[in-house]
Amino acid sequence: MQQIWIKKNDILENILIEKLVFWWKWFSRLKHTNPDLDWRVIFVNGGAIPGTIANLRVLNKKKSFIETQIIDIVKKSNLEIENHENKYGMSGWWKWINIPYEVQLDIKQEQVKESLNVLKNKINPKILDKDLELVEKDKFDSLFLPIQKSPIINWYRNKIEFSFWKYISFKNNIEQHFNVWFHKQGEFSKVEDYEWAPLIDEIQNEIYREIKKFSKTIWLPVYDQMKQEWFFRHILIRKTHFTNEIMLLFSFNSEYFNKNIKLNKNEKINIIKTFFLWLAKKYSIIKSIYLSHNPNKADICIWDLELIYGEKTIKEKILDLNFNISPTSFFQTNSSWAEKLYSIVLDFVKEFNNITVLDLYGWTGTIWMIFAKAWAKNVISVEMVTSASKDWEKNAELNWLSNIKFVNEKVEDFLEQYLNNWNKADLLIIDPPRAWMHPNALPNILKFNTNQIIYVSCNPSTLARDLWYILEKSDYKIQKIQVMDMFPHTHHIETVVSLVKS
Ligand SMILES: C[S@@+](CC[C@H](N)C(=O)[O-])C[C@H]1O[C@@H](n2cnc3c(N)ncnc32)[C@H](O)[C@@H]1O
Repeated sequence: MQQIWIKKNDILENILIEKLVFWWKWFSRLKHTNPDLDWRVIFVNGGAIPGTIANLRVLNKKKSFIETQIIDIVKKSNLEIENHENKYGMSGWWKWINIPYEVQLDIKQEQVKESLNVLKNKINPKILDKDLELVEKDKFDSLFLPIQKSPIINWYRNKIEFSFWKYISFKNNIEQHFNVWFHKQGEFSKVEDYEWAPLIDEIQNEIYREIKKFSKTIWLPVYDQMKQEWFFRHILIRKTHFTNEIMLLFSFNSEYFNKNIKLNKNEKINIIKTFFLWLAKKYSIIKSIYLSHNPNKADICIWDLELIYGEKTIKEKILDLNFNISPTSFFQTNSSWAEKLYSIVLDFVKEFNNITVLDLYGWTGTIWMIFAKAWAKNVISVEMVTSASKDWEKNAELNWLSNIKFVNEKVEDFLEQYLNNWNKADLLIIDPPRAWMHPNALPNILKFNTNQIIYVSCNPSTLARDLWYILEKSDYKIQKIQVMDMFPHTHHIETVVSLVKS
């Protein structure tokens, strides 16, 4: 019998998952004997597919909704397909791999439409079609271009990190002491083990298997992440998409030998080096190999790096721009998609000759480099993370670009000073972090009064909130909206919106 009240940690049984709402949350409704609770909205965290029936644990009970986490699946959704990858569980990296790709695209396009629906109802007269004429309420849909697929669907990740660890579950009678793969979803204390990983290509998988096979031969233990001791820690593989180069990084606890003085440290490290040199000979695509001597207590892969083979960086080329990628470089994870995104941003721009572009939240400045190369008079890229600027400097030099400036500051602070000094801009490109844009930033963005703003967003709900503000407080109109699938088989969605002055 169902209980009358609901409290934290209660289990809600047999709940039908209806649709994706917000950025990563699923939506459902409670059927309950208590009329106060019946039909209550449930938000669901976890890897779900619409149509799934699941048991949920209550995380939080608010006045108007209940927040929950999936704990097990009672009945699979009819949308779910059986495919080769299904047996690899539901890692956060490919939660949707069991949904046919065309359905994934529909879900994403619909989710953005639903998030932006608030704009349609409230400020409809401000929505214009691509010819900048007023459109009717029911033409809201026409602002949406068809969703852009990722050029590569199944092995698009150019960077992947495997962890060494074990998988002990007395409940399920599993005792594996040497695993190398990914953490079990939602369980940091367990690493699963398979011979293959989705989302990377066959050569990356082959190299991963070679390293795993070797690491089992030298009689050293996997690192214990709870006790923070022992040896093997991570394998990092980076592969460039357009130039086909691989960088490997092998991370281990260099202090392991301090406590195990009977073992000959130099001998063991030399065996590791010899193996990796052999591997580089076997796979000529490998251009760079690092060892990461890593006693750090945190679960990070990159620490004290030693280059043992090849070049310090590998090279990538996007839209005719060269990038050097180091082990710590930031780079979009799906290179083929990145090229597509940047082309779309370029396509959206109405006037481009001799303009000053502000690239807000620039990261390594890929977007501004493309503008600087294309036609802009000046590009100013603003990013608060200092390490991203190191990449920026090297890449600017590599591409002979001088009409650019990189500002290592918070966008909200930068805008204040820039405007106080009476500086101007002709085009704003905003690509804020998933969580939010600082509330001080938006009012200042409007003060520039540029003819066009391009807003790139990875979170439809914050996009809706910011667009609402812009439409409410200014005479910008939405010109067009392009939803893009950046990461197939995941819930991630990218949206590019062009706003223009009426
Ligand atoms: C979505 S990413 C931008 C991606 C980038 N435009 C590109 O195309 O590669 C958001 C960036 O905003 C930066 N960021 C977050 N908060 C910021 C702030 N208050 N001021 C400046 N940069 C910030 C993050 O470090 C991150 O690099």
